[in-house]
Amino acid sequence: MCGIVGAVAQRNITPILLEGLKRLEYRGYDSCGIALHTNGELQRSRSTARVAELEKQIEQSGLSGYTGIAHTRWATHGVPSTDNAHPHFSRGRIALVHNGIIENHDELRAELQGLGYVFESQTDTEVIAHLVDHLYQGDLFETLQQAVKRLHGAYAIAVFCRDEPHRVVGARQGSPLIVGVGQGENFLASDAMAIAGTTDQIIYLEEGDVVDLQLQRCWIVDANGQAVQREVRTVHAHTGAADLGPYRHYMQKEIFEQPRAIGDTLEGVTGIMPELFGDKAYGIFKKIDSLLILACGTSYYAGLTAKYWIESIAKIPVQVEVASEYRYRDSVPNPNSLVVTISQSGETADTLAALKHARSLGMEHTLTICNVSTSAMVRECELAYITRAGVEVGVASTKAFTTQLAALFLLTLALAQSKGRITEQQESDHLKAMRHLPVAISAVLALEPQIIAWSEDFARYENALFLGRGMHYPIALEGALKLKEISYIHAEAYPAGELKHGPLALVTKEMPVVTVAPKDSLLEKLKSNMQEVRARGGELYVFADADSNIISSEGVHVIRLPENYGQLSPILHTVALQLLAYHTALARGTDVDKPRNLAKSVTVE
Ligand code: F6R
Repeated sequence: MCGIVGAVAQRNITPILLEGLKRLEYRGYDSCGIALHTNGELQRSRSTARVAELEKQIEQSGLSGYTGIAHTRWATHGVPSTDNAHPHFSRGRIALVHNGIIENHDELRAELQGLGYVFESQTDTEVIAHLVDHLYQGDLFETLQQAVKRLHGAYAIAVFCRDEPHRVVGARQGSPLIVGVGQGENFLASDAMAIAGTTDQIIYLEEGDVVDLQLQRCWIVDANGQAVQREVRTVHAHTGAADLGPYRHYMQKEIFEQPRAIGDTLEGVTGIMPELFGDKAYGIFKKIDSLLILACGTSYYAGLTAKYWIESIAKIPVQVEVASEYRYRDSVPNPNSLVVTISQSGETADTLAALKHARSLGMEHTLTICNVSTSAMVRECELAYITRAGVEVGVASTKAFTTQLAALFLLTLALAQSKGRITEQQESDHLKAMRHLPVAISAVLALEPQIIAWSEDFARYENALFLGRGMHYPIALEGALKLKEISYIHAEAYPAGELKHGPLALVTKEMPVVTVAPKDSLLEKLKSNMQEVRARGGELYVFADADSNIISSEGVHVIRLPENYGQLSPILHTVALQLLAYHTALARGTDVDKPRNLAKSVTVE
């Protein structure tokens, strides 16, 4: 999703802006650009290729300057093209970049056209650039404060003006923006990682803030125009994506990092206790009588899996909602519910909005399971558990998902303990199984050669069905999502019992059916569902486990996971499905780490 970097300094900032853009690449983008204050004028360079190409372009043109802004764009309004790439200019005076969506852009465009402004792009962003120019009377900070009052929607904005060479102004509402405080220089960015290495002194702007950055000044006003002090935090953000090492893609590397990521996520957990989730957790867990889980995409599937665990072990009712639906529907709030958001990035606009909506309905107790400790989600929630997957570069979530599952299983045990629904022996058995996860996952990773053999065959299909039952149904959903997003094979997941209620009509020899089949209480029923597939000529690709007792036969391909892992089995089966999606995509030659049309951090609605 769009990324912003901005700087005002006493040195050439081109390398800082370019480095920032490279660090924001992981979010996904389809064009990029940079604008600088150079020799009393606005100069820019834009490209629909990668940031590395933009860098070459800039080397050739010799573009440099002390004040400037840069952007990676993920198209919303208007196709990916150079004209639509940011920064946008207005009358050679204003340069502006934006992340978010301006909902009233049509109305503003008509008004500005009426005033004589000529539009060069199809973007909603150009509207803001012209609006700023129209309102400008010599003070950019004041102008932006006025301009944002006219905007409906979500935005993070960075802007500078030809007539004020040592000033960059920013604003945020609904999209992330941080300030990096330097010595005699200041920066703006979408996240701290973009400027790691330049400064670690970070201010997280709050909703409605407008910030004035000059060489020696960082001045913030809130949504009411009141001057505010925001805490400057020392943030040790990772200095960019780690090396690929022996791996071909970040996704593969991240799949193989899962034993480490889960180990780190559980590090320091010496026993089950609510306080793992925050100081106030004990009192809150005692009080609540249900959970409302809000999340999107893969994180939503983590929530669905947790519902099975929490209802079975802690005996607390759980409602799991897709955040983008929940925020807009009429629902019946329960003030005694604990609202749990799950998010890798902690910046997903829909999940943040759903959280606010739940709060506005009187649900005050909130907890987040999140991979970014400095994110808006963590700042907005009362309780938090930080997964320690590390930076996830591949757009498709892998280690973030399994670490979310590990954290949610811990939450299940802590809730069960608070409600007195688990014995010490059970706690200790579960904890032992969790600690063994890194070893168990490594054993699944060792199945890679068998999965590669499948994927070579699998890559020729254009459709696939995924089946699971019970707590493995969400894992089937996740397996299908992974396959479709990176290999572009159309894939659907069903609880296996639903097959004969419709999807069975699709089954032919051209429709492979991937089945998640660990030994559990539903296995015999699942085997009947598999027979229904075979009877229609469908090819079965079965992930069984050591105890499933399913053997390969004609049209039935079986890979056996080395252990039966009881209630934690969803985590192990996920890893096998990730490898299937990865190797199938590889065989099809897609851009695995940056699948088309997708972004890593979805900061717009
Ligand atoms: C899929 C994927 C997405 C994210 C979703 C939520 O592989 O990564 O479906 O899970 O966009 O993102 P977060 O977890 O950052 O809120």
